[in-house]
Amino acid sequence: IKVIGVLTSGGDAPGMNAAIRAVVRRGLFKGLKVKGILKGYDGLLQGEITDMSAKDVSDIIGRGGTILYTARCAEMRTPEGQAQAAEVCRQNGIDGLIVIGGDGSFAGAGKLSALGINTIGIPGTIDLDIACTDYSIGFDSAVNTAMQAIDKVRDTSASHERVSIIEVMGRNAGYLALWAGIATGAEDILLPEEYNYNEQEIITQIIENRKKGKTHHIIINAEGIGHSQELAKRIEAATGIETRATILGHMQRGGSPTCKDRVYASIMGAYAVDLLLAGKSSRVVAFRGGEYVDYDIQEALEMHKGLPGYQREIAGTLSYNYVKD
Ligand code: F6P
Repeated sequence: IKVIGVLTSGGDAPGMNAAIRAVVRRGLFKGLKVKGILKGYDGLLQGEITDMSAKDVSDIIGRGGTILYTARCAEMRTPEGQAQAAEVCRQNGIDGLIVIGGDGSFAGAGKLSALGINTIGIPGTIDLDIACTDYSIGFDSAVNTAMQAIDKVRDTSASHERVSIIEVMGRNAGYLALWAGIATGAEDILLPEEYNYNEQEIITQIIENRKKGKTHHIIINAEGIGHSQELAKRIEAATGIETRATILGHMQRGGSPTCKDRVYASIMGAYAVDLLLAGKSSRVVAFRGGEYVDYDIQEALEMHKGLPGYQREIAGTLSYNYVKD
């Protein structure tokens, strides 16, 4: 391995820049040439590739977003797109490629490996929905952003004695919602993994809580359930209590990464370079059981993980709804 490339793909996540920096600096330190590929697989297919120096990644460790830009690339899902991407790598002398993104991005990386390009994935998504790893870059920053926003909504919600539904991102996974719900002491947390929540029970509880003098009621709703505005209308109609829905949206993907995201991203970025140098390909870097490890991409894509059951159970028991005075 003499020349490696790095790209970010899929939704951006705070900490991606720290991972890019680590790939570039670790690669240069080990005597490799490092190329940055712009705009994910889209940019790779268009040959948007630039040489990276140590200075190019100065002062980016604390910046949100990704300096390499990112995209969701439909063409990379086709055999023609995959063959072209491998060809562009060859034309540019890239014999090792590091892809920072989620499962969709790893699927493309797996295809490139099969086409002879040594490829390593690094988990970067705020959703924490990559089964092989306990941690993905961006989750900690996003959940802290969500927590701070929810704390602010709570202030106004309590002043107006309202019910607030706050929708957080996470696609089909409820990790962001569960963590944000525990961290803010939300009365209810609605998760896509347990879609059959009982709306009538929530309404009854809101009325009961109000009788007991509780001035607000926070419901964290995961994006995977959605329809927060409609739910707010139904709750207001059923309880007679003013109810507002707030969809936090893309603000959760922005901002300066937390210390945890910067550190994990730095280690994972360097680890990915070391895997390439050890002659590995088709691997995903992971953090599991307190250690940095790596998995075969196909094996990783076939793994499943659910919400931590104990954590979920505890979240319910700490809610005001279920605690007797
Ligand atoms: O995967 C990250 C994520 O922010 C999800 O939580 C969300 O469902 C999706 O990306 C939004 O994607 P886009 O930015 O393309 O609208």
